[in-house]
Amino acid sequence: MNDSATGKPHERNGRMPAANERILVTGGAGFIGSHLVDAFLAAGHDVLVVDNFSTGKKENLPGHVRWYDADVTDKHALLAIVKRESPTIVVHAAAQINVRSSFHDPQRDAEINIKGAINVLECCKDAGVKRALYLSSGGAVYGIPNRLPCTEQAPGAPVNPYGVSKYTAELYFSLYHHLYQIEYGILRLSNVYGPRQDPHGEAGVVSIFADAVLHDRQPVVFGDGTQTRDFVYVADVAAAAVLAVRRLSMSFPKPFDERIFNISSGEAISVNDALAAIQHAAGNRANHALATVPSVPAKHQAAVSGEVKHMVLDSSLAKKALGWMPSVGFEEGIEKTVEWMR
Ligand SMILES: NC(=O)c1ccc[n+]([C@@H]2O[C@H](COP(=O)([O-])OP(=O)(O)OC[C@H]3O[C@@H](n4cnc5c(N)ncnc54)[C@H](O)[C@@H]3O)[C@@H](O)[C@H]2O)c1
Repeated sequence: MNDSATGKPHERNGRMPAANERILVTGGAGFIGSHLVDAFLAAGHDVLVVDNFSTGKKENLPGHVRWYDADVTDKHALLAIVKRESPTIVVHAAAQINVRSSFHDPQRDAEINIKGAINVLECCKDAGVKRALYLSSGGAVYGIPNRLPCTEQAPGAPVNPYGVSKYTAELYFSLYHHLYQIEYGILRLSNVYGPRQDPHGEAGVVSIFADAVLHDRQPVVFGDGTQTRDFVYVADVAAAAVLAVRRLSMSFPKPFDERIFNISSGEAISVNDALAAIQHAAGNRANHALATVPSVPAKHQAAVSGEVKHMVLDSSLAKKALGWMPSVGFEEGIEKTVEWMR
């Protein structure tokens, strides 16, 4: 039975943790959202999830978490849940995350990422929720920055529809703060990887490569593989979200001046090197010393138009204001991810 029919939450056992905040996580059954759920629970918060399970999975959710099968584009359903549950903070992680899909269907991308965010904020306004945290994308909102590493001061200048929708949603969080005093924070994440990332989607190069390598398939690299990204391990992102929630709680109702934080490792790694590290972790160590020459030859396809060639974020503001630092290095994170996928 689904919640849109009954309006009642699913709860697999009645256990309720001691709560500091009651946090509603949209997209909480997804890759990153489910790690946030785990981390919020471990921090002693009461957590509930809204997800339409388009890419999220019920098995990503701990048994005692209340969840609603609802779509963030459906304001009526969302408002009923928010009013029933009275969360103290909403963490908005639900999104269409596929850059290539955003080119093919920009309307759908905007519908989910922009209209969904407006609905979340409207529900906060109508139900009196005064704090919200939004997961944005540092890889998408800055476009092609003039300087690397890229700080939060760089202007939003997205070069693909996904970046436009993620950036537009940020502007709505700012607008609802000015209009309705909703305190907000934004985490601009770099390339997140780790357990539970879907290897069958088009996003998430680490899990896609790991899946190919573990199944002896030829990994597909778009372009020549020299494009660089900074990868951040998902548990580090969850730790940043816990700190941001704490910051939102502490500063409320005072102004929360530093609201936008890059969350990244700050280490530029080429796609070729990422593949070599995955092959190494998978036990295929032969050519690891030649990091740019993968031992299972990759199949190269045309570079994706609108894809940023080099991106590294500067997370020093998150360190200063939130006390956040990444704790899992790339090789360790890749080992953990490959082990999980195995
Ligand atoms: N994965 C990354 O590297 C990365 C980087 C930067 C930012 N982000 C952001 O982090 C967030 C989570 O991304 P992810 O990688 O975990 O993706 P994901 O696809 O695993 O998670 C998205 C979740 O949202 C749910 N969802 C999608 N549309 C929905 C809708 N209309 N209504 C309700 N639920 C819906 C999905 O079922 C899924 O559970 C997104 O906002 C994304 O833009 C991700």
